[in-house]
Amino acid sequence: MTTPALRLLHITDTHLFADDGARLRGVDTQRSLNAVLEHASCHPDGPAAILATGDLSQDETAGSYRRFRATLGQRGLPIWCLPGNHDVPGLLDAGLEGAAFRVSGAGLAANWCVVLLNSHSPGDHGGRLGPGRLAELQSILDEHRERHVLVAVHHHALPVGSRWLDELGLRDADDFFALIDRSAQVRGVVSGHVHQASDQLRNGVRFMTTPSTCFQFLPQVAHFALDTQPPGYRWLNLMPDGSIATEIVWIEPPH
Ligand SMILES: [Fe+2]
Repeated sequence: MTTPALRLLHITDTHLFADDGARLRGVDTQRSLNAVLEHASCHPDGPAAILATGDLSQDETAGSYRRFRATLGQRGLPIWCLPGNHDVPGLLDAGLEGAAFRVSGAGLAANWCVVLLNSHSPGDHGGRLGPGRLAELQSILDEHRERHVLVAVHHHALPVGSRWLDELGLRDADDFFALIDRSAQVRGVVSGHVHQASDQLRNGVRFMTTPSTCFQFLPQVAHFALDTQPPGYRWLNLMPDGSIATEIVWIEPPH
């Protein structure tokens, strides 16, 4: 029997509120997430799991995580999550406890290991792994030597070309690069945070960012600016040979 590909639906930066109808930069973030999930569910080839790479909450409330749970928890799919700078890791962990959700460690399927790396750094919109989380990553890699690895982490490690965002990236990216440069099994790194699509190759490893389920930032600018691009998401097909086939999907924004 041949090993199947692992198909993931990647969503990110949902920025949910506890309050019904709350808007961020003019977007009802719950409606926008619903529209993304509805669009993705129409694809005949469904995912084996949903990966959500942080900034799940905007208002830092337990209620926002209850919403995330209510929206995603009943789909009969594993939901692999990690926190971003706007999240409260303790509330996220408590709110997403239970069978469907994994909020740390690694998701295993087919011959792949998807590492859920926490880059939250208290009081900072940039991210940091620190020695503890880097050691955790190393130990997951050591434990699953026979698997291809996708690392999921909220903050982008490679610059995307926008100065204001690149100043808020992964602050200890060099330590992260040093680790994955020693690990031939790491095939890709996927992030949120930048609210835009990017796909770069560094030393044979794919570094990808994915549009937000709500609004986007204008690429390649020095200062903060919103883009007119609609909500989006990414399909990830993690292939048995370690390659990654991927596609960004933009949806019609809900009115
Ligand atoms: Fe973020």
